[in-house]
Amino acid sequence: MRVVETREDLYTDSGDARRGVVMTMGALHEGHADLIRAARDRDEHVTVTIFVNPMQFGPQEDLARYPRTLQADLELCERLGVNTVYVPQVADVYPRTPVVTVDPGTLGTELEGVVRPTHFRGVLTVVCKLLRITSPDDAYFGEKDYQQLTLIRAMVADLNLGVTVVGVPTSRESDGLARSSRNVYLTKDQRAAAAAIPRALQAGAAMSSPAAIESAVRAELDGLEIDYVAVRDPDLGPPVLGAGRLLIAARLGTTRLLDNCAVRLEAL
Ligand code: PAJ
Repeated sequence: MRVVETREDLYTDSGDARRGVVMTMGALHEGHADLIRAARDRDEHVTVTIFVNPMQFGPQEDLARYPRTLQADLELCERLGVNTVYVPQVADVYPRTPVVTVDPGTLGTELEGVVRPTHFRGVLTVVCKLLRITSPDDAYFGEKDYQQLTLIRAMVADLNLGVTVVGVPTSRESDGLARSSRNVYLTKDQRAAAAAIPRALQAGAAMSSPAAIESAVRAELDGLEIDYVAVRDPDLGPPVLGAGRLLIAARLGTTRLLDNCAVRLEAL
């Protein structure tokens, strides 16, 4: 496994191999491992990027205290058979402050965008940069961050970026809580209370109209501070009959947790 810090040092040896990339901010867990395994199954050369992207953090957010566990991350990558890990300094990805950035459109202002108005501009800009830097055939993203995945798919289609975006199902703890690098911020009591989120998704998914789903979810989340409960179509447009997506954001203390699942709508 090669660990490289600069763009110039990437791919001195990957030849014509089919390339897959898994982009991360480090603090790797089993959810990231699932993305790497999906890439390993399909691509001959797997690159993992580890970069805590300053542009996607708001001024009041956790950039400085974001968990950093590089040694353990590299060991996990090695065990999973990763070929190259790109661990750049900020200046390698941002040689200058960008004048041109990627506009996430209206969807970037909804759901997560309400509390994090500049977040998706930062995500799409860095994902676009990292796609250019790593030039993969396939790029893997988790359904855990469903709005992010949806916007990345839209960017790749709308800007003709010519990469296949592969969505990977959410990896969960034994009580159903979605794995997240931010779960380490939870106290013991908050961690126990967080199990209400996957329970709420299950209760919602058993219902068949947006209103019934929302009230089932809110009943399960009683006591948690809810940012939003939303029922949309799979591309995050307004709900339609058939396939839909249920998305939740809730706060436990200062930690925001996100989760989502598929739903089936038989009434609107
Ligand atoms: P990060 O939060 O480190 O997540 C990296 C990738 O792992 C994302 O595609 C995310 O959706 C996926 N992931 C995280 N937890 C998961 C889980 N429990 N199950 C399945 N997949 C999971 O998301 C980012 O970093 C950044 O925004 C990034 C795309 C790297 C751009 O900076």
